[in-house]
Amino acid sequence: MIAIYPGSFDPITFGHLDIIKRGCLLFERVIVAVLRNPNKSPLFTVQERLEQIRLATQHLPNVEVDSFAGLTVEYARLRHAQVLLRGLRVLSDFEMELQMAHTNKTLSQEMETVFLATSNEYSFLSSSVVKEIARFGGSVDHLVPQHVALDIYKCYAQNPGSNQTTNNTTTTTTNYPKVEREV
Ligand code: PNS
Repeated sequence: MIAIYPGSFDPITFGHLDIIKRGCLLFERVIVAVLRNPNKSPLFTVQERLEQIRLATQHLPNVEVDSFAGLTVEYARLRHAQVLLRGLRVLSDFEMELQMAHTNKTLSQEMETVFLATSNEYSFLSSSVVKEIARFGGSVDHLVPQHVALDIYKCYAQNPGSNQTTNNTTTTTTNYPKVEREV
């Protein structure tokens, strides 16, 4: 069985990697698929995220990294995948994830969503949390792979006060200009 693990991955965290590693044990192939989403203002371009994920998963032979636009189920169909893989951290994830799974089911009856409970140690972790910490000068070394941490530090060093987050919410905290980056 082939599983698609779709997401924004802006950037990939140890929480995502936990799901990928465990997914690899369950499925023949796990395709980590970065959504090209024109409605979001990401910190990293799709290309940068693909490179970050490739480097972080290069030791996992049955992982493929790709990007897609449009509906996840359409992309999954195109890749002959039968499963959409998602991680569940806390109860608050559940509502949104269940809604997404039900929506996807209406779009494709044959597609199953499989949830993995994120390991306890990463239950608090999200890409937004990582960016929030780094934005205020904190260390994210324990939350993301080293090469991703370096990218993040570089990004915020170049763009201090960059105020982008994954949830499309904007928190303006300084007088620095919002940095426009290619999606
Ligand atoms: O990492 P994220 O941002 O939580 O991932 C969300 C994602 C990419 C899985 C979801 O937004 C998605 O599947 N978008 C593609 C559009 C789509 O298929 N929508 C229908 C399901 S709600």
